Amino acid sequence: MTRIVYKLGVFLSTALIFGYTINSVLAKANRASVYAKQQMVSAANPVAVRIGLNILRAGGSAVDAAIAVQMVLTLVEPQSSGIGGGAFLLNYKPAKTKASKPILSAYDGRETAPRAITENLFLKSNGDVFSWDKRKIGGRSVGVPGTVHVLGVAHKKHGRLPWKILFDPAIQMAKNGFAVSPRLHKMIKKDKFLKNFPEARNYFYLPNGKPLPIGYILKNPKLAETFKLLAEKGPQAFYSRNMSVDIANAVQKTHHLPGKLTAEDIQTYNSKQRPIICGPYKVWKICGMPPPTSGGVAVIQTLGMLERFNLGRHTPNSAEAIHLVTEASRLAFADRNLYLGDPDFVQIPSKGLINTKYLQERSALISKRETMKIAIAGKPPFLSVFPDFSSDNASKELNSTSHIAIVDSWGEAISMTTTIGTAFGSRIMIHGFMLNDELADFAANPRDNKGKIKVNAPQPKKRPRSSMSPTFVLDREGNLIMTVGSPGGSSIIGYVIKTLIAVLDWKMHMQEAIDMPNFLNKNKRTELEKDTNLIELVKELQELGHNPDIREKTSGLSGIRVLEHGLEGGADSRREGIALGD
Ligand code: GLY
Repeated sequence: MTRIVYKLGVFLSTALIFGYTINSVLAKANRASVYAKQQMVSAANPVAVRIGLNILRAGGSAVDAAIAVQMVLTLVEPQSSGIGGGAFLLNYKPAKTKASKPILSAYDGRETAPRAITENLFLKSNGDVFSWDKRKIGGRSVGVPGTVHVLGVAHKKHGRLPWKILFDPAIQMAKNGFAVSPRLHKMIKKDKFLKNFPEARNYFYLPNGKPLPIGYILKNPKLAETFKLLAEKGPQAFYSRNMSVDIANAVQKTHHLPGKLTAEDIQTYNSKQRPIICGPYKVWKICGMPPPTSGGVAVIQTLGMLERFNLGRHTPNSAEAIHLVTEASRLAFADRNLYLGDPDFVQIPSKGLINTKYLQERSALISKRETMKIAIAGKPPFLSVFPDFSSDNASKELNSTSHIAIVDSWGEAISMTTTIGTAFGSRIMIHGFMLNDELADFAANPRDNKGKIKVNAPQPKKRPRSSMSPTFVLDREGNLIMTVGSPGGSSIIGYVIKTLIAVLDWKMHMQEAIDMPNFLNKNKRTELEKDTNLIELVKELQELGHNPDIREKTSGLSGIRVLEHGLEGGADSRREGIALGD
């Protein structure tokens, strides 16, 4: 065993040193789908994808590769995700025999709020809400990171290679340096707050205060040490006394809006396995992550409401198709905002919300001729009491978060969306990684104007509601036919829905579906992606009563389809994604 581990280590490190440190800057996202016979990785950064593929080549499972990819992303895409944040991971294991069924698992590594917070976390003493900038920056928004925990649990169940090996590539890269990518450079340049945090300022800027240029070889020896510790001691090292005290100190002692996170909060963190949520769409089954993310429920609801319109008969991205999809999405967001939050704190009628009859009733509210403008939440079945809480709005569009899709040579697959909140999270850096600002996903104002508590109000130990939507599509027999997801804050739901419709109804290949212009609705204005041909539809949409909002819609979709004789992958060139396979 030791010999195998050693050989793997040499293989991975060599591949890394000879291929993957510098050329990430030159990598361009491919515009045609990528095809492979047996295994594939799609993620937001070319270096991370290559490392993930090497892990598969070395005999790793999809989960093994996801762990290695996540560690490399912590280093090379520090604005988006990392070990200082949280993640949702779906795992698919094919049926062993014709008589058995595939096994689908859902793992929740969402951050939790410190015990010492109150519902007034984001309220000033006069009762006003802190501005968005003040909510996301600094110690107050840091939740207990769950990513290492959830990966540890998933590895125990689905790993094939030793945990330790999976850190080798990231350790080597952190020690030897990696080339700053165009997107990382852009995000540093754009950020107004990062340089106010000493650790981050020293790391992300040149001594003259300029952002690190594209191609700059950046080393992160502190992160290399952290990775070594996690590799040697296992995931629990992240939740150990030493690490938890350091993280808690960084949060409590930051100069900017210190938070109340304690070492005990970190030491007692637990990720959770939850029952995966699935619903039908035509001949397919759509499976996603249940609450505390709203993603799975909202995606299943929207597609369920659209089924009767048979979108396959509509021209892709025509005004009438966009109208129907955005109306269904409005209805899903109305329910989302009222009903969805942390299931450990509020009773969530998930089953009722995706009930076929309920979705047919909701769908009947959609008119082909005009928008309903604002949708009202419905009353799903199995709801014993109308919720004793009030709704809040969708959270913001975020430049952070990352999605990883992997299929391995055993036919196992993962769909994992991972985040540190907004770009660079809280901006607090410790031991070489960024701490999240995920608590900013809570409703800032915990009560409505009648004094009723909101479903997503901040509470001690609660998980903030997410929109992350890691998704699997299965055929009638339960075979995997697609794994997909995206970053993008509350726009994630719309990005994933668009991609599913493009593949399933409009028969596009994976890359074409990802590239198709984004459009969505969060029960507000209909959003259309800037600089695309959707602009030509504005007039028609206005005639249907929409008030289109043309804006950047920077999805970061990653997806893989399982075809009869192989795999087809795509990744979003709006960020730096690529897909690669063998
Ligand atoms: N922080 C992004 C999300 O959880 O949806």
